[in-house]
Amino acid sequence: MAMFSSIFGGITTDPAAMVIPMDDHMVHRGHGVFDTAAIMDGHLYELDQHLDRLLRSASMAKIGLPFDRSTIRNILINTVSASKCTQGSLRYWLSVGPGDFQLSSSGCPKPALYAIVIEGRSLPDQKGVRVITSSIPMKSPEFAIMKNVNYLPNALSKVEAEENGAFVGIWLDNEGYVAEGPNMNVAFVTADKELMMPHFDKILSGCTAKRVLVLAEKLIGEGMIDGIRLGNVSVEQGKMADEMMLIGSGIIVKPVLQWDKHIIGDGKEGPVAKALFDLIVEDMQSGPASVRVPVPY
Ligand SMILES: Cc1ncc(COP(=O)(O)O)c(C=O)c1O
Repeated sequence: MAMFSSIFGGITTDPAAMVIPMDDHMVHRGHGVFDTAAIMDGHLYELDQHLDRLLRSASMAKIGLPFDRSTIRNILINTVSASKCTQGSLRYWLSVGPGDFQLSSSGCPKPALYAIVIEGRSLPDQKGVRVITSSIPMKSPEFAIMKNVNYLPNALSKVEAEENGAFVGIWLDNEGYVAEGPNMNVAFVTADKELMMPHFDKILSGCTAKRVLVLAEKLIGEGMIDGIRLGNVSVEQGKMADEMMLIGSGIIVKPVLQWDKHIIGDGKEGPVAKALFDLIVEDMQSGPASVRVPVPY
């Protein structure tokens, strides 16, 4: 394991030193943003896409950069290298920084960068799950499109799901359309074989979901699906779909077999979810350099 902190200006592998200051406004005011990239076979998957999203989130949250983009990128790669971890994930935060215990960030002289390597299994399982409609209010679009550290609604949505024997809760947006899960996007395959996903204008623009949209073109060529559509998905359309799936860096593509009381399709893991899982895994293991950054250990 390893952690980088711009506060101490380096990487540590000593867990006792993996700390952040209490007066960092990310700790006591939630003024920070973060992102996560998977580590697969000694490569960072979609590092640049996740880094771009981090910088967009930081800009929306009015957090300056402690270093330029290429320095941040090198720090992240070097942190994974120092950890010697070849399977897992890298999570990193940009914070408005330490300074005081006020609300205003005007007393924080310098933004901070933290990164941590989390060892993990090589691949998540592909077993189908049950989901429920979340009763926890989802964030307003302005906050949902940036990956800020306020994940209390997300955490409570997950707790609510677990209390009800489900994997996660699905959020509906302010118009009642399908939005997203607490740390994943949602997609469907309609009866007329269309892969359908909600727009990214009120939810987090998922790097995995966006990659799925590109790789799924192959399934059109193979006749497995007839088209791909981004748009409003009503609850009724979602529940009537042949397949429903969750998509995100942690789970890759996970079939949903039941939503609330409603069985999805034939209640079994579907072929499109399986094919998309395989396409992403193949991309993680042998995709182009634009999505696979080697870590020099
Ligand atoms: C709220 C939310 N939606 C969607 C996603 C999926 O994004 P990604 O595929 O980049 O992991 C995440 C990931 O953490 C998330 O937190």
